[in-house]
Amino acid sequence: MKPILYFYRFLAKYKWKFVPFLLVVMVTVILETIRPYWLKQIIDNSLLQNQSRVLFYLILFGVSTIGGNLTSALSYYLGDKIMISTSREIREAIFQKVLELDFAYHVNKSTGSLISAFRRGDSAIYTVFQSLHQELFRVLIALLVTLFFLFRVSPPMAISLICLFVINLFLIFWLIKINLKTRVELNQSEDDISGIITDSLINYETVKFFAAETKERQRLGRHFIDWTQKFWNFSNSFRLMDVCIGTSSGLGILFILFQAVTKFGHDFSLGDLVMVSGFITGFYYQFFNLFFRIRDIAKNLTDLEKYFGILENVVVVKDPITPVTINKPIGALTFRHVSFAYPGSNDKVLDDINLEIVSGEKVAFVGRSGAGKTTLIKLLLRFYDATAGVIEFDGVDIRRLTKSYLRSLMAVVPQEPIMFNNSIKFNLAYGKENASWSKVKKAAADANILDFIEGLPENWKTEVGERGIKLSGGQKQRLAIARALLTDPKILIFDEATSNLDSESERKIQQALNFASKSRTVIIIAHRFSTIRNANKIVVLNNGIISEIGKHQDLIARGGIYRLLWTLQSKGKLLTDESIVEA
Ligand SMILES: Nc1ncnc2c1ncn2[C@@H]1O[C@H](COP(=O)(O)OP(=O)(O)OP(=O)(O)O)[C@@H](O)[C@H]1O
Ligand SMILES: [Mg+2]
Repeated sequence: MKPILYFYRFLAKYKWKFVPFLLVVMVTVILETIRPYWLKQIIDNSLLQNQSRVLFYLILFGVSTIGGNLTSALSYYLGDKIMISTSREIREAIFQKVLELDFAYHVNKSTGSLISAFRRGDSAIYTVFQSLHQELFRVLIALLVTLFFLFRVSPPMAISLICLFVINLFLIFWLIKINLKTRVELNQSEDDISGIITDSLINYETVKFFAAETKERQRLGRHFIDWTQKFWNFSNSFRLMDVCIGTSSGLGILFILFQAVTKFGHDFSLGDLVMVSGFITGFYYQFFNLFFRIRDIAKNLTDLEKYFGILENVVVVKDPITPVTINKPIGALTFRHVSFAYPGSNDKVLDDINLEIVSGEKVAFVGRSGAGKTTLIKLLLRFYDATAGVIEFDGVDIRRLTKSYLRSLMAVVPQEPIMFNNSIKFNLAYGKENASWSKVKKAAADANILDFIEGLPENWKTEVGERGIKLSGGQKQRLAIARALLTDPKILIFDEATSNLDSESERKIQQALNFASKSRTVIIIAHRFSTIRNANKIVVLNNGIISEIGKHQDLIARGGIYRLLWTLQSKGKLLTDESIVEA
């Protein structure tokens, strides 16, 4: 029922269009259903040779037929008008919700199944709307009209129709249960399959590297065995439904016709017989309609449940109720006793971090892979909230700022920059769409990527491919630096890629960084020591705790972990687990 409530909450906005729509549907059904009654009048008055009344009822019959057709078209037109707007609003609301959801939600989601939830949900919206308001509503009105006329000629027949209706309702709800269960199982299997297909498509490079096409096909093939079984179960539940409902409706209608035939002659005219047969045989199809629509609704409810279910996800990292802004942000940071474990885990990734970063400082974080460097940045941006402790921006607890404001004060060049499948210009200007052309070019120049862009045949219009696949690692990083610089952040965070860059790329990135550090605080997570030699402060993270802090020379003199890492680097090795273990 919950999805239906959500559905009506969205529809409520259109209540002044909805009421006339339902009225038109009602008029249509009455016009369409009443025709056997006009026929009865035509026949009975023909037998009485009352020509003027015959003509009168003929006209009414014509009006019913043609008018019903016209109002039916009008009802679909009105319904579509409501539906098109509502479906758009629902899709926008759900998309917005997905965007607002926490980083943790996005880490755990499956893009493939989320996309199919959107696709299925959207088509379910149309089906449920039509089924509920056009079809189901139609059947109920038709039932009332039929019962009204049946009661007038023979109450036992009307009671038979009510009994038939009730029996069939019980039957259909039982059958729907079976149908729903098989549907949920099939959806699960479908999601597994689209998950595998999406995963393979995203990782096509790895698939090619390992010549794993056959393996991928077999992986999918194994899931298809389960899918086929689930599909059969689902399909067979429809057959069962058709057989049960068809038989019970057929028998019921036969019984009512039998009642009518035996009554014929006893106060029951030829016109009455034709009318009852008209109503009943017409209603036979309405029964099927009813069953098919309830089936449609039930079938689509699971899709709607999943679709609207997205709206029920709660944002864990919340904006404050009364947020503050910082008068003149300068880009100073303080970490006080900050500890953190990822949701669902008890292992502390960061443990009691205390650190002061003053405005304009260039601070480097180093440490082995998995030490918690990137995690620290995620806390700073409030992708997660620290499990304990406080992080302050210019002396203000970051939880007192809205997430968007906080993030607008900083810009991140991520460890693996990802680009939109769009042009270089679109990607570079992403953080600041209204930036002037001269600023865009300056950011590119400062990030040492301008010459590269202008040397391309299509320069700024060059498409970078999905996730930026057409750019090299170094180019992507410099583009990401330019993208960050354009927003003129108070703090620039550079999470260096672990991959090795050639010395030319490294030099270019180094120049870009030097430039960037002139007027702002810069945090560098470094895997190459060349990047950080002249940092004001180097923070060595080890197993989630700060083990050393100081300048390069001090740390070298101290002879601790930093010196060990530095020695490794001088041998030309990156700070990876293997190289550290090797040392
Ligand atoms: N979303 C997540 N859920 C659970 N654990 C995570 C998640 N992201 C990272 N971790 C774990 O947290 C630890 C710290 O990861 P983090 O990415 O901060 O390391 P890092 O210091 O940046 O390493 P690298 O130098 O390789 O980039 C790792 O053990 C990692 O497996
Ligand atoms: Mg990292």
